[in-house]
Amino acid sequence: MAKFDKIFRESLENPEEFWAKAAQGIDWYKECDKVLDGSHPPFYRWFVGGEMNTCFNAVDRHVEQGRGDQVAIIYDSPVTDTIDKITYLELRDRVALFAGALQDLGVARGDTVIIYMPMIPEAAVAMLACARLGAIHSVVFGGFAANELAIRIDHAQPKVIVFASGALEGKKTLAYKPLIDKAIELADHKPQNCVIFQRPFLTADLSEDRDLDWRDLTAKAKPVDCVPVQATDPLYILYTSGTTGMPKGVMRDNGGHAVALNWSMKNIYDVDAGDVYWAASDVGWVVGHSYIVYGPLFKGCTTIFYEGKPVGTPDAGAFWRVIAEHGVKVLFTAPTAFRAIKKEDPDGELFKQYDLEKFEALYLAGERLDPDTYYWATDLLHLPVIDHWWQTETGWAIVANSRGIEELPVKPGSATKPVPGYDVRILDHEGNELGPNQEGNVVVRLPLPPGTLVSLWRDDEKFVKSYMSNFQGYYETSDGGFIDEDGYVFIMGRMDDVINIAGHRLSTGAMEEIIASHQDVAECAVFGVHDQLKGEQPVGLVVLKAGVKRDEEELNRELVAMVREKIGPIACYKKTCVVANLPKTRSGKILRSTMRSIANGKEYRMPSTILDASVLGEITDALVGMGYPEK
Ligand code: COA
Ligand code: AMP
Repeated sequence: MAKFDKIFRESLENPEEFWAKAAQGIDWYKECDKVLDGSHPPFYRWFVGGEMNTCFNAVDRHVEQGRGDQVAIIYDSPVTDTIDKITYLELRDRVALFAGALQDLGVARGDTVIIYMPMIPEAAVAMLACARLGAIHSVVFGGFAANELAIRIDHAQPKVIVFASGALEGKKTLAYKPLIDKAIELADHKPQNCVIFQRPFLTADLSEDRDLDWRDLTAKAKPVDCVPVQATDPLYILYTSGTTGMPKGVMRDNGGHAVALNWSMKNIYDVDAGDVYWAASDVGWVVGHSYIVYGPLFKGCTTIFYEGKPVGTPDAGAFWRVIAEHGVKVLFTAPTAFRAIKKEDPDGELFKQYDLEKFEALYLAGERLDPDTYYWATDLLHLPVIDHWWQTETGWAIVANSRGIEELPVKPGSATKPVPGYDVRILDHEGNELGPNQEGNVVVRLPLPPGTLVSLWRDDEKFVKSYMSNFQGYYETSDGGFIDEDGYVFIMGRMDDVINIAGHRLSTGAMEEIIASHQDVAECAVFGVHDQLKGEQPVGLVVLKAGVKRDEEELNRELVAMVREKIGPIACYKKTCVVANLPKTRSGKILRSTMRSIANGKEYRMPSTILDASVLGEITDALVGMGYPEK
């Protein structure tokens, strides 16, 4: 049997033994009593009774093991023209000091802290400082508007919010302080304090009694040591888009997370301690949590904090410059970044200017890797281009080409095979298992491996309802797809109202809630249509209230402004069309997926339950008027 198949089988037949062995890659204050507690399905707990500290494993242990002088973080910021290198020793000292500062503010084990920061190393320092204390962080992506931040403040109830004075987004300077003030004003929960990291290009005024300057605070603080926590204690909450305006607070524990991520670095990405590993994403997303901060640091790699874009900072050669300058071995990014590079430099002229001697593989995830982008990247790089599929919920790859174990042949369009620990199946809507090449719901048989979500923050009920109810004994991924005769998994897209815009996960349901609140709108449907650069873009069809007549361009401007104001610019909502009716089933359900198929030029079957089939003709005309399907 091939090496990969053997290891995969072991992981499913004997999960406790498999993960107990992987747990040896982590330093424990106390070994666990039980590797897997499955006594309360669907709630599974890994490494019960084990005691450890995430920050110790990511930072201190490398200093103790002689890696103190190795660079832990390279901060490469074309937008501020800065390159800074932080060794493991310096990182430990900065984290220990900031943990001391948080402790002085009363932050202790089990407290929550919200972090709202751009791609600067202080974001990692703040995350690791929370972990050091056993506090729970919740990082919010900087592209979310005040209203989204307020929702998270009310749900996570942070004692402290840590934020930067601002960010440079391409050529724009964004001030964070007004946004934080507004979010706190909107929220019912008020944090005790805010800690502000002042950036050289923008100084925020501090609000008396609430705000503290990061530098003043740390100047007075004393370094603190790592606090032992239970493996099953929460490490972080990361909010992710669901099907409504209320995001889901994915909760990750300490022990399972450290074991799984540490294991994944070698087995999936094939990197070792000392290697330079770069995930070009943002700390606000799961990729940033797992593979900018925790994974590479657990493994003792050098990680890169890149504050820039794939294009425009200054050009489409930016990624090649970073890889060459810092000796990157593995790059992980979203296909959209490569599409952006391809658009600006289709023949790879900028690529040819750099010496990428150390570069070994490119990993892509966050959205479907379209074969065009796959072939373009492969022809350019002449290196393995690895698609892998995962979700905020799982925290690490469900399906991948686990090159560290054995590199399997690539089938373009497939993310290759399930990773050890994940028993992936395809079920029809009734829960029957489907055979090879039959498309259906992609699910994972329980228990999920370590490092995956343990529940939703303060909402076990929603956890069960969202993921564990439709298919008993399985985790429902909400993605559709199939497995071919060789066991390769093909992910075809979401089956719910979640869309991926430029690798960013957003909810069309949340956009609909905002649009429906416009005074002139009776009802609406928002769905994703194919976009050459960003993968998908949202489009809104609205029905006006009886008697209302509106100029469509003006209405569109108002709706665009509302979505930007409530969700943020990353929602990329730009196009609205007024229609007389929306297609519905007899029971009143709006047929979004049928409209999506029409807009994307895909074949669809006329739903037998449709109330009035002629409405689809009107919708087709409206979409054609908007330029869909794309020629
Ligand atoms: N803070 C504030 N605003 C942000 C932001 C952030 N961190 N990130 C994006 N935005 C804003 C952008 O400035 C833009 O605003 P605008 O409408 O005023 O121009 C809007 O949100 C849309 O951003 P984006 O979709 O990123 O479009 P773009 O044209 O700025 O860039 C790409 C396009 C492809 C270059 C960019 O999306 C990219 O680099 N993608 C990589 C994806 C990625 O890293 N995904 C993470 C998962 S792995
Ligand atoms: P997020 O939670 O932001 O990581 O988004 C998860 C969703 O992104 C998944 O449910 C998929 O729909 C999509 N996705 C992520 N990676 C891939 C991939 N490699 N191929 C296809 N879809 C992907």
